[in-house]
Amino acid sequence: MELYLRDVCKTYKGRNAGHDSTASFCMENVNFNLLPGKVTLVTGCSGSGKSTLLSILCGLLRPDSGKVFYGGDSIYDLDGHGLALLRNAKFGIVPQKCLLMSSLTVRENVMLPALYAGKNEKKVADKCGDLLSCLDIGSLSGRYPGELSGGEMRRVCIARAMINEPEYIFADEPTNDLDENGKKRVLSLLRESAWLGAGVLIVSHDPYAVSYADIKYGMNGGRLL
Ligand SMILES: Nc1ncnc2c1ncn2[C@@H]1O[C@H](COP(=O)(O)OP(=O)(O)O)[C@@H](O)[C@H]1O
Ligand SMILES: [Mg+2]
Repeated sequence: MELYLRDVCKTYKGRNAGHDSTASFCMENVNFNLLPGKVTLVTGCSGSGKSTLLSILCGLLRPDSGKVFYGGDSIYDLDGHGLALLRNAKFGIVPQKCLLMSSLTVRENVMLPALYAGKNEKKVADKCGDLLSCLDIGSLSGRYPGELSGGEMRRVCIARAMINEPEYIFADEPTNDLDENGKKRVLSLLRESAWLGAGVLIVSHDPYAVSYADIKYGMNGGRLL
């Protein structure tokens, strides 16, 4: 189903918000379609608005105005539960700050969204095993998040985002904390998902991602170029 945003505006107020309405960041009238079967890359310097764009598109951050449409419906008109179900079933999200449940093992963290969606446990376990080996972290499946490096944690977040074979994948700086081999594995997996039909959005300041993308945008001061 089509996913796009129309005339989206988002402003963060400065420190003195309330007393002084000077905006510290402003995204104005952004229009953007995320295409199925393609890897779309948005690059730009730190603070240009990449994470803001990604968060709005994947249903995590409500814009001040404008709409995000999935399958013709405006997603922020759903109630909180409806939006959470949509995100879990159809979207795979790799946040810039990777957060995992500290009391669950790697394997349990990765399987959680699929079990929550009511999928067959055996199939989910197989898929989880495939993803972990593909990302070269198969040996870590029984470890807890507190026992992982930053790069290992990031790959666990990527596996978790892909466990439900989402229609759209949103990866915020997916190569952070990774060495060259790790970057290759992560970007190849995202690339393959697009070949299999997923719409993939990567936002990154890492030039390494460029050769994996079909469509490239730059971002500057909240504007897509
Ligand atoms: N919750 C927030 N409150 C205030 N300012 C924010 C908030 N989130 C982000 N910003 C500011 O908005 C700008 C864009 O942020 P972000 O989208 O995270 O950029 P990028 O991902 O390109 O580094 C930055 O200047 C950042 O400091
Ligand atoms: Mg960011």
